[in-house]
Amino acid sequence: MSAILSATGLVKSFGGVQAVDRADLEVISGSITGLIGPNGAGKTTFFNLLSNFITPDDGIVQFKGDRIDKLQPHRIARKGMVRTFQVARALSRLSVLENLLLATQNQTGETFWNVWTQPKRIALEEKQARDRAMEILDSIGLIQKANDYAGGLSGGQRKLLEIGRAMMTKPELILLDEPAAGVNPTLINQICDYIQYWNRQGVSFLIIEHNMDVIMGLCDRVWVLAEGRNLAVGTPEEIQTNDKVLEAYLGA
Ligand SMILES: Nc1ncnc2c1ncn2[C@@H]1O[C@H](COP(=O)(O)OP(=O)(O)OP(=O)(O)O)[C@@H](O)[C@H]1O
Ligand SMILES: [Mg+2]
Repeated sequence: MSAILSATGLVKSFGGVQAVDRADLEVISGSITGLIGPNGAGKTTFFNLLSNFITPDDGIVQFKGDRIDKLQPHRIARKGMVRTFQVARALSRLSVLENLLLATQNQTGETFWNVWTQPKRIALEEKQARDRAMEILDSIGLIQKANDYAGGLSGGQRKLLEIGRAMMTKPELILLDEPAAGVNPTLINQICDYIQYWNRQGVSFLIIEHNMDVIMGLCDRVWVLAEGRNLAVGTPEEIQTNDKVLEAYLGA
């Protein structure tokens, strides 16, 4: 059981606030791993540090054995690790399909030069991206909305689109920040099915979530943060009955 992602001794303070205070985390390759903790525990900041959207004050992040804590987020994405945001960031004035196509990478690039020298290759890449987008939209139940403005989607559908956008880049690890927040129960089930479907295809997940049914139903292992520090790690069952965890939640 090797780690696809490991973080050691991460530190981040904002002025006087120690948001993350020497915290560790590991995602086993092929797993669905949870990250939970009371509001303000530092979970989103931790994600920002893992994906280098915010530079850590200290600590090491390794993805597939390589240090990534000095890499730009887009380079990390290219290596196979992508993240979604607590507030979904779909582009409302683009169609659902266009939102997915925008997320593709590793393309030859439609530069003036390439269009002249490699028109077939570009046409092929565009077709492949479109096919993948349609397959993803089909799997998340949004195919009927492919040509609708993303702005017209419900909150839950936007969350699905956000995960779909992440899937476009064929990642090996996806970090999801509260995929079930503000989503109705039917769609939550659909999001969980979707996560499990992609997990069976070999994609690892790290999920921040307050909805304990989601965490307990999906995760192999759960890490608990409180006040920026590691409070506990274990199976969902172990975490559910851990006194320190219960205390942190009740005291919050
Ligand atoms: N950019 C920032 N500037 C200043 N303080 C920040 C910033 N981002 C986060 N914080 C503070 O760091 C702490 C951790 O916040 P963070 O958003 O990481 O918590 P969280 O565990 O994701 O909470 P929630 O469950 O509510 O999403 C909080 O005290 C927050 O106010
Ligand atoms: Mg958060």
